[in-house]
Amino acid sequence: MFASIAGRYDFANHLLSGGMDFLWRAKVARKVASLKPERVLDLATGSGDLMRAVQKACPQARVVGADFCFPMLARAREKGLRDLVQADALALPFADGQFDVVTVGFGLRNMADWKQAVLEMARVLRPGGVLLVLDFSMPEWRPLRQIYRAYLHEVLPFFADLATGRRGAYEYLGASIEKFPAGVAMNAFLDSCGFVCEAPRPFCFGVASLYCGAKPSSASVV
Ligand SMILES: C[S@@+](CC[C@H](N)C(=O)[O-])C[C@H]1O[C@@H](n2cnc3c(N)ncnc32)[C@H](O)[C@@H]1O
Repeated sequence: MFASIAGRYDFANHLLSGGMDFLWRAKVARKVASLKPERVLDLATGSGDLMRAVQKACPQARVVGADFCFPMLARAREKGLRDLVQADALALPFADGQFDVVTVGFGLRNMADWKQAVLEMARVLRPGGVLLVLDFSMPEWRPLRQIYRAYLHEVLPFFADLATGRRGAYEYLGASIEKFPAGVAMNAFLDSCGFVCEAPRPFCFGVASLYCGAKPSSASVV
């Protein structure tokens, strides 16, 4: 699916989020910089916008981007990003404990097995390392939730069709957001994978959220 929209992915992102995606990635990048990492993995890096923001915020760090979709990685390469690896997040080609921080922006939701993916992220993080998950969420406030639901299922696929010619990919988007755990439910899920989580940070009244979990320093992750 991502191969079929790779050429228009960035344009559709900026259009459909009203440019807010830049702001959200910049917030994640600032959070990464505050952790002063030496090695960062940006998983499901896609066309590389989050990887690029993290690299800019952390010029001292080595930032690696990984994704299994070659056409998306080709877009990242066109932006000058070089440390790119074609890899499946469910079976990463990295040794245990290699990274200080793992970021995943709008990626986990799309993976075939969320638990397996998060356990792989935990495996490649060093003890004490931090996982940052940025993804869409449903707003908690009921009236806004209803409006957002209408936007997701009626308005967004229409404009996405105009922007990319791939309406199906964006019908999938709304459905996947509805299914994906949000807020405390996502924290409970990350806890169940062995992470110790901070409170979720909702962006734009909760249409996106940032989750931050630390891999315990001593106990092994289950
Ligand atoms: C919505 S894009 C996100 C791209 C980028 N992180 C961003 O912030 O715009 C989702 C990406 O997840 C990737 N993806 C989905 N499942 C994956 C998996 N199992 N392993 C690696 N990448 C995966 C897709 O190829 C796609 O590039």
